[in-house]
Parts: sequence; structure tokens; C-alpha cells
Amino acid sequence: MKHILGVLIMMTLGLTACTNNGGGDSEEDRFVEDLLGKMTLEEKIGQMNQRTGQWEMTGPAPKTDGSQQLLDDLKQGRVGSMLNVVGAEATRKAQQLVVENSRLGIPLIFGYDVVHGHQTMFPIPLGEAASWDPELARLSASVAAKEAAANGLQWTFAPMVDVGRDARWGRVMEGAGEDTYLGSAFAIARVQGFQGDDLSNENTIAACAKHFAGYAFSESGRDYNAVEIGGESLHNVVIPPFKAASDAGVATFMNSFNTIDGLPATASSYLQRTLLKGQWEFDGFVVSDWNSIGEMIQHGVAADLKEAALRAIKGGSDMDMEADAYLSHLKELVESGEVDERYVDDAVRRILRIKYRLGLFDDPYKYCNEDREKNSLLTAENKEAARKVASESMVLLKNENNILPINKDIKSIAVVGPLADDKDSPLGNWRAKAISNSAVSLLEGVTTACGNDIKVNYAKGCDLVTGERTFSNILTFNSDDRSGFKEAVKAAKKSDVVLLAIGEDAYQSGEGRSQTDITLSGLQVELFDEIYKVNKNIVVVLMTGRPVVIPELAEKAAAILETWHAGSEAGNAMADVLFGKVNPSGKLPMTFPRSVGQIPIYYNYKNTGRPSGNEMDNLWSRYTDSPNTPQYPFGYGLSYTSFTYSNLNLDKTEIQPGGDVKVSVTVTNTGDVKGKEIVQLYIRDEVAAYARPVKELKGFNKIELDAGESKEVTFTLGKDELGYFHPNGTYVIEKGSFKVMVGSNSAETIETSFVIK
Ligand code: BGC
Repeated sequence: MKHILGVLIMMTLGLTACTNNGGGDSEEDRFVEDLLGKMTLEEKIGQMNQRTGQWEMTGPAPKTDGSQQLLDDLKQGRVGSMLNVVGAEATRKAQQLVVENSRLGIPLIFGYDVVHGHQTMFPIPLGEAASWDPELARLSASVAAKEAAANGLQWTFAPMVDVGRDARWGRVMEGAGEDTYLGSAFAIARVQGFQGDDLSNENTIAACAKHFAGYAFSESGRDYNAVEIGGESLHNVVIPPFKAASDAGVATFMNSFNTIDGLPATASSYLQRTLLKGQWEFDGFVVSDWNSIGEMIQHGVAADLKEAALRAIKGGSDMDMEADAYLSHLKELVESGEVDERYVDDAVRRILRIKYRLGLFDDPYKYCNEDREKNSLLTAENKEAARKVASESMVLLKNENNILPINKDIKSIAVVGPLADDKDSPLGNWRAKAISNSAVSLLEGVTTACGNDIKVNYAKGCDLVTGERTFSNILTFNSDDRSGFKEAVKAAKKSDVVLLAIGEDAYQSGEGRSQTDITLSGLQVELFDEIYKVNKNIVVVLMTGRPVVIPELAEKAAAILETWHAGSEAGNAMADVLFGKVNPSGKLPMTFPRSVGQIPIYYNYKNTGRPSGNEMDNLWSRYTDSPNTPQYPFGYGLSYTSFTYSNLNLDKTEIQPGGDVKVSVTVTNTGDVKGKEIVQLYIRDEVAAYARPVKELKGFNKIELDAGESKEVTFTLGKDELGYFHPNGTYVIEKGSFKVMVGSNSAETIETSFVIK
């Protein structure tokens, strides 16, 4: 009895704490309450229903079939939002159906996956994170917002802020990599870039932090797989970027497909009500992922769609993307008393609030301006921004004998490989309204840069993919057609330097693109070997959507430049870096493993009880067939100059819990050219109640130094950096000794220490 009473009290409290009834008397509150007061239960449920304008976009077709049903639902106010309807004209038509026919004329909000650009494509988010420059992410998100808003949209399903440690999972391309601190900085920048200071500004759109939560921890990197994650990792690794997005004022959240320790995130009242809407006081709304409410049946936690709807609404999912669960069952659940109508009111209030902030009630058609649309997409200014961001995102992994930058005195250059003249793959996956084949290819960029001075010898060598490559097709890779090898070898033989463009097709990463093997597909390594026989000056221009396994290239290539899928201006940005107009400064946001067997591999691992041993001894935490270390560590990337670190100092060696330590270090450009360095600060909490990682990033600073110049860089370590979450979610700063490490990547640092007394 005592137990049941306790549960009842908690449920009531939970409902009050997490059903924010506005309570305020701002104009917005009054407007929303007034409108809510006029709405019937059916109209409220309609607001909670989101429908696609394009069947089969990213999931199975919805249950309600055909356009007549959709038209009726729109006219009757049974739809609150649409996704995948794009364009000033298309959104105006859909908006008109609702505004002119439904009783209250509440405008739709149009959402779309604007992930790394809308029509002007920027590098994939993982690549952009390699710039370690949140200002660039803010820039690209603001350009994307401007284009999307001109194209009829008010809402993007981005940024994805999932911290990912498993490169087999194809969706790592959409995030900021493996680190929570870096990921949080990019989450904030992207939210601010999309939303600006004012959602009602016609150039800004609402952002959406997704996928809440744990999705990137899908077991064995297989998309949609179950997630088993303890409280310590959940709170310290996965959740902080979501908290950062919420604090930055993100308008919406999207939950995730996965279960966490058996419970679908979509039904998690702990995540969505206790944390997000309770402790964090988030006042926007949560949209489910595509049919994630319906998928609770397949997960085996709901017998039917009605029970799925019940679990989702109680869990805190406000808007149903494509499951049709709320529309079909919420009314009867409320009428039977199984769902308190205050849950519905809370969800609707949140949705209306965001529509209000977007200015949709003032003018439902303000994003439907065909003239603005004509002049806003793919402009010269936007392409210039994309080129800048792309060149800053590239990571120089190897540069033997300073083969790069390419010496302008050479006579000839071979541009070879299946991706060399590919104008489509650089656009990457999740490419919104990019025009197919519209990117500047490597060949185009290099040919322009070479002008009449250097002869360019192009040969494809081989195809990467066979058959049609589209968003929905499963790719097949060329494994037997070597007919182009001969020409590629010939081009390489007669050239001073070879640029070999290999890597991944645009559609090789992204949703549903998990791979067990992340070595280079098809004949690419074989092509490398054939060319290597005739010319050793091979610069590999790697285009990938994830870290890849490249031991042969790491050993034999003269240089490797990771360019990711670099966007609309890819080839120009690559040429900028290859010819030294831009000195590369990107650093890896995700570890490159030596082999798939090392995955998950990440820099901030726990020490274990057996961290090292000697070669004669098996019984320590290691593999018998491979070193533990990665091919390229987190934070790694070279420059055309070199930097040294010295004078690492702390202003104190003892502090009280809650106190600050100032860290300073001198960084010197010891090379011959100007360059940018990303100075990285790591700590290790040496003795704690729960084992802490061997290293955790707690600060970074991108600086530019002239040849020979030195600069002092300072950081502050305070209460936000020195504590951690216990598995129950409590943040604690514990006494004891802390190591401070500063350097150019996670594996090369100088160190000192202090104590919290
Ligand atoms: C993805 C989401 C995306 C949604 C809408 C889902 O399949 O998981 O990230 O926003 O589709 O396209």
C-alpha cells in the first residue's frame, strides 16, 4: 500500500512538473492559452500529428494511404505539421488547405532534414567538426537556415548531437564525432546558427536536437539496434550535448528509435519528462522519430498501436511523426481516462508556442515568398562560405617529405580514381535540396588551380559503385572491372605527382548504412597498389563519411588528405589546400582504427585494472594480434608548418571543490609558413568514486601563428570541467589529484597536475 501510494504521488508530481501550463502572462502565454481554450480534443490531437508529403522517404509508408485521406485530414485540422514538403509554392498550397478550411486555421509547421546545407552543401557535419571551429558551424547552419526558410521551411531536423564511437554506424557522418565536449560546442553553434537570435526572423528556422538519446550506441554499430548503456556513460558521454542544445534554446527535440536498457527512448519519461522538460525546463516540443511510436510494437513493449500511443504520450513524445498513433487512438485514451488530458494540453501548448515564436500566427505564408526563393539559393556568397568551411574541415593525415603543398614548379599531375571526377559524392548523404551532380569535383578544382602551368592527366581507374546509386538503393561495389587500370597507371607514370581520389560514395554513410567492414570498398586499394608500382608520389585525397581503415595507405602513400564529403565547393576547397592557398588545420573528431576489430575505439577510454604489460606477458588488457593504439588518434591532424608546446603552467596547484585553475601554455610555430593550430586541453581525474577516463577534452582553442611566432594560450578549469556525473545522474566534484595535459592531439601532450583538497 505504502508503495502504491508513493507511486501515485510521484505520478501526480511528475505530471505537474512536466506539464508546463505556461502560467506566465506574456503575450505569448496569453495567446497560446486562449487558443488552447478554444480547441476541441480532436483539434488538439491534430496538432500532435505530423505527416509526410512524400511516401517512403525515410521509412515505410504510413498506414493511411493515398492523397485523398491526407487532403481531408489537412482540411479538417487533423495535421499539425508536415515533413518533406518543400518549396514556396508547395508549402503555400498545403498551408492554404489548412488555414482556409480547418475551423481554427492553425498554420502547419513544415519540417525537413536540413543537415549540412539546404541547396548549397557544406561538408558533412562530421567533417565540419574536424575544423574544431564552432563559428564555422554557426555560419553553415545560418546559411542553410536562410536557404531553407526561403524555400518554404520553418524547421530543420538538425543538429544530430549523438556522440558516436562506432564508425560502423553510418550515421556518424551526421554528428560531431566521438567527444562530448567538442560535440556540445558544435551543438550550441549549430542551434544558434539555425535559429539566430529571433525565431520570427524570416531568415531563421527552428532547430531540433536529435536523437534523444543513446542512438549512436546502437549495439555493434548496426542501425536501429538496441542500446545497452550504463548510467555513467549515459550521463557523462551521451546526454551533455543535448543539455547544451537545450540551454542554447533549441526549439525542438527528436527522440530516438532505439531501446535503452530495454525501454524505447520514445517511451522514456525519465529522458523526456524528468530530465528534459523537468530539470532542464525545456519549453519547446518533442517530435518522435519516423514511426518510432509504432515501432514500439516491434520492440515488444506495446501490444498494438493504441498501447504504443499510450506509452509515447506518457513518456513525453509531443508530436507523432508518421505512426498515426495519436490520431487513431489518443481520443479514446483520453475519454476512457487512461490518459489525463493535461498531457495532451501540455504537448499542444508546446507546439503552439513554437509556431507562435516562428511568427506563423501573424502570417502563415511568410516563408512562402517565391521572389525571395528565386534569389536565395546557391548564391555566390553561400558558395564562398561553403568553400571556406570545407577547406578548414580537411585533415592532413600524412605528408612525407612535405610532398604537400604541391610545388607549383611541377610539370604534370595525374588526377586519378573513382571519385576524382565525381560531382555527386562530395554532396554527401542527407543532402536536402542539393542538385545532383552539382559539386565542384576534385578534377575541376585542380584543373582550375593548375591553369596553363601544370598539365593535368585524368583517368578514372575504376568505378566504386556499380548500378544506380540513390538514397534508397542498396549500393553494390565494383569488384571485378579492372579495365580502367591501364589508363590510370599510364596517367600516373607520366606525371610528377598523383592525386588519387578514393574513399566512400555519398550514400555509403548515413541512415541505414551500417557496415561490418570499413576498409575501402571494391578495387580501390588494388588501384592504389598498381599506381604505386609506377609512381610513389601518391597523394591520397580521401573522401569519406566516417573514419575508415586504411593500413596500406597509411604505410605507403606519400600524403593523405581526409576531405570528408566536402559539399558544393569540394574540388575548389581541396585545391586550396593541396596547392597551399589554405594551410590545413583540421583535426580528427573521431579516431581512425587500425582494424574493425578495435571498434569501438575512442581516446577517452577507461584505464582498466591491467592497462599495460610487457611483450612476454599475455595477461593485460590488449589484443594478441594488434596494438591497442589507433591508426590516427582523436584530435590528430598535420599542418604545412610545425608547432611546439612549452611552459605549461597552472596558477595554483591546490584548489577547493568548486574553485578554478588557470592553465597557460606557450605554442610556437617552428616552421616556415603561417598556420593555424588547435590547442587541446585534456584532464584526468586520477582517483574518483567511479573510474574516470584516461583523458577527457575540457578545452580547445584554434590560434593562428606566423612562422616563428609564439603565443600564450590560456584556459580555465572550473566546476563545469572538474566534476562528473555519478551513474544516478548526480553531478559531483570530488577531491583528489588531477592531471592536466595540453597538446596538438589526444596522444601527444605535455602535462602537469594539481589537487582538489
Ligand atoms: C531519421 C531522422 C529524420 C527523420 C525524418 C528518420 O528516419 O532517423 O533523423 O529526421 O527520418 O526524415
